[in-house]
Amino acid sequence: MSTQFRADGSLRHLITLESLPRPLIERLLERAQGLVRPLGERPPVSRALAGCTVANLFTEPSTRTRVSFELAAKRLGADVVNLEVQLSSRVKGESMLDTVYTLQSLHVDALVIRDAETGVPATVAANVAPHVSVLSAGEAHVAHPTQGLLDALTVRQYKPRFDRLSIAIVGDIRHSRVARSAFHVFGTLGVADLRIVAPPVLMPEPTEFSGCTRHTSLESGLDGVDVVMMLRIQKERMAQIDLPDGDRYYASYGLTPERLALARPDAIVMHPQPMNRGIEIASEVADGPRSVIRDQVRNGVAVRMAVLNEVLAWRAGA
Ligand code: NCD
Repeated sequence: MSTQFRADGSLRHLITLESLPRPLIERLLERAQGLVRPLGERPPVSRALAGCTVANLFTEPSTRTRVSFELAAKRLGADVVNLEVQLSSRVKGESMLDTVYTLQSLHVDALVIRDAETGVPATVAANVAPHVSVLSAGEAHVAHPTQGLLDALTVRQYKPRFDRLSIAIVGDIRHSRVARSAFHVFGTLGVADLRIVAPPVLMPEPTEFSGCTRHTSLESGLDGVDVVMMLRIQKERMAQIDLPDGDRYYASYGLTPERLALARPDAIVMHPQPMNRGIEIASEVADGPRSVIRDQVRNGVAVRMAVLNEVLAWRAGA
């Protein structure tokens, strides 16, 4: 989406990772890496965005994404306002823009938006004043760009050579914005072997995820991979899908220690959370030595700091 950029080529909005240039992705990951600290150490803080205001506008539930955007903004010295809005879908589009204009009048510089409807971040981006940036914090099943970046950062910390990696994304691919943003970022970073693993009803359309191999068997999908990325079953995005119940799903697609043994011995296990333990992942795996799930959460703040810095840097100097 070329409208993510300003006329001078700098990043203004972050709505999708699709066709984001590799050097920009690498720069954001490099910057974020410089902001990661071991647990127990104080995270870096600065006044780089002092005087800027970031608004979190969430119409879908969120814990990690909302809190980490808030902490990221605060650790850069920005002011933060949080709005958790319950909007009926009938009036949603209009109400969302009215809320956005209100925030704009209050001198908000960046709007962080999560919404269940496709196209909302792009619509807002098309209607805000030129100095305002829009960052998607999750758009329907379509995109979750900062999650994609934090997933790439997490992989890079353990497996820096993307061109040698086998990555399996497992579970409800069809309804997952996390999977779509992962597909975009891993593709751009040149991952050698990207697999999607799902029961047939949770596979995406054949036109999507081009270049990935598709596996309906978890055993074949996990064979020899370096990274296993598990996904939550998105029941809230399923209208008429006849899904096996939790026990049956776990029997075929749950990540157990035995199944993880099919991956490489040094494989890492990821999950964006919230997790359904005992449905898509066994607790022994989620809390086990190969799990990097808590690293993902920590990396989320660093990535969001890097992104906020990138889109608001011109303002900080202004
Ligand atoms: C994900 C989301 O909301 O898309 N969670 C997150 O942001 N960490 C994944 C999910 O809800 O399953």
